[in-house]
Amino acid sequence: MEKILFDSHAHINEERFDGCREELCREIGESALAYVMDIGFDLESSVRAVEDAAKYDFCYAAVGCHPHDAKTMDDAALIMLKGLAKKNKVKAIGEIGLDYYYDHSERDVQQYWFRRQIQLALQLKMPIIIHDRDANDDVMRILKEEGVFHTQRTDCFPRHPDGGPDARLLLHCFSGSRELARQYVKLGATISIAGPVTFKKSRKTVEVVEETELSRLLVETDSPYLTPEPYRGRTNKPVFVEHTARKVAEIKGISFEEAAAATCENARRFFAID
Ligand code: NI
Repeated sequence: MEKILFDSHAHINEERFDGCREELCREIGESALAYVMDIGFDLESSVRAVEDAAKYDFCYAAVGCHPHDAKTMDDAALIMLKGLAKKNKVKAIGEIGLDYYYDHSERDVQQYWFRRQIQLALQLKMPIIIHDRDANDDVMRILKEEGVFHTQRTDCFPRHPDGGPDARLLLHCFSGSRELARQYVKLGATISIAGPVTFKKSRKTVEVVEETELSRLLVETDSPYLTPEPYRGRTNKPVFVEHTARKVAEIKGISFEEAAAATCENARRFFAID
């Protein structure tokens, strides 16, 4: 099968896949998926993501602590994350950010470790993957305050093919407005579209896809969460990214193959995978 898809955000390392990970990965190997970015959400899952990347050719890793788990962080864990970030096939710091919907960690704790991990990414000149739920203003403010969009950072990377800056910042499972997407892209960010774009009540995300230049879009599953139609209700898995790419193609008025190839190329460039 031709390899034309890149799932830019999956948690293959999740305990929910224990016992079926081999089968899951064999299925990926036989599918149109060329790459999967395996995303850590705390120190332990980041270790597992790095192990998965070492084991599976298609797999690359991002390491970081999710805002839910910010309360588990300390200086020693940050040093461990830094060590992991330097390992082979680790291509980004993430997912990191703020989640004011669940508030599983105190907001000041979330913000503190969000900043510390942004600083780590800037120091290592690595891409950043953002989780933002009901925290649009604080996420944007902190990214600006930490200098993610400064030329000092954007100059570390080649100009984006659209001629704009490239801040190597990925808004994972983007759920904001088209105005917010426009602001982010202008600053040099890239937008990742997940399964909810296939849902009936997806008007806002459809508008974001309409608004955003194809070269600034990636697709993802966020497996095992956010299963796209027509499999909504089941456990999500990376091969289902096809359905999100099909929806993006439909919105953009291009073929599935074109949308798959473009988002795959975008992701390879974003994560610097040759
Ligand atoms: Ni995630």
